[in-house]
Amino acid sequence: MRAATSSLPVARTREALATELRALRRSGATLGLVPTMGSLHPGHLSLVQRAAELADATVVSVFVNRLQFGAGEDFNAYPRDLARDVELAAAHGAHLVFAPAEREMYPAGEPRVRVDPGPMGDVLCGRHRPGHFRGVLTVVAKLFGLVRPDLAVLGRKDFQQCILIERMIRDLDLGVRLVVAPTVRDPDGLALSSRNGYLSPAERREAARFPEAFLAARHAFRRGERDAGALVRLVDTMLAPRPALRLQYAECVDPATLAPVARARAGTVLAAAAFCGRTRLIDNIVLEATAEAPACGGPSGSGG
Ligand code: PAJ
Repeated sequence: MRAATSSLPVARTREALATELRALRRSGATLGLVPTMGSLHPGHLSLVQRAAELADATVVSVFVNRLQFGAGEDFNAYPRDLARDVELAAAHGAHLVFAPAEREMYPAGEPRVRVDPGPMGDVLCGRHRPGHFRGVLTVVAKLFGLVRPDLAVLGRKDFQQCILIERMIRDLDLGVRLVVAPTVRDPDGLALSSRNGYLSPAERREAARFPEAFLAARHAFRRGERDAGALVRLVDTMLAPRPALRLQYAECVDPATLAPVARARAGTVLAAAAFCGRTRLIDNIVLEATAEAPACGGPSGSGG
């Protein structure tokens, strides 16, 4: 089956995907993949643009992956609007949208064999979302298998996801080049997320305190604070008076291993998750010794 809008082919089955890919690859074109769960916003679209710059043809996958949602999480409520996603992907340089139904992605039901993220999947977000990264790596490995891209573009906002996918590519020799693009933010610094739509107007105002706390930590680092505990306490102290915000975790980690560090140094990543009402926000910042002109105004600036 091949559904098409005026502008862009949409493959809803693996057969349609294979047919479209044959056409795209005919001329020896390189292929970029942007995996998403849809409800595309300018953060996703920056990845599509990046892929379109780097590869001859860009495939955007749209699939809300049940495997990476825990019991009681928002799988059913997750926003879905494929027609809008297709128009936006087309306008930002995509050549094909792959939007499989669940039975196409998992024809034999939930896969028995899954990709184990190892201990790096059990820290940070993984500690609070058991099985989440196993679900992410499993679907990303399947998308790599179905699309066989030369490169994939991911967003720095999901820092742990980037590190784990990078590690999966390396450890399993998947032969995909990974490109990590900076976090796109609203003007007040909040990282764009499909889940931000869950926030009430009052919660949305409070949510801006979350990226502010990261900027305060980076500022403290630049003034010489190297004690990771003190940087984390600073984030905690900034969020504590805000009744709508509840910090789930904040941690300074080594960006290669995700191991916690006691002393921060240039390149250390401060990562955190917080609930704003019932909406879970995540963000991260690279601690840098010197100020750089931020590309997009918020915590991760040009470094993502
Ligand atoms: P999703 O949350 O839809 O995100 C898709 C891609 O967009 C991810 O690489 C994510 O890091 C990136 N992204 C999200 N918000 C961003 C922002 N504000 N700026 C830049 N990039 C942003 O992440 C997933 O889906 C899934 O786990 C997936 C990898 C598709 C596997 O199911």
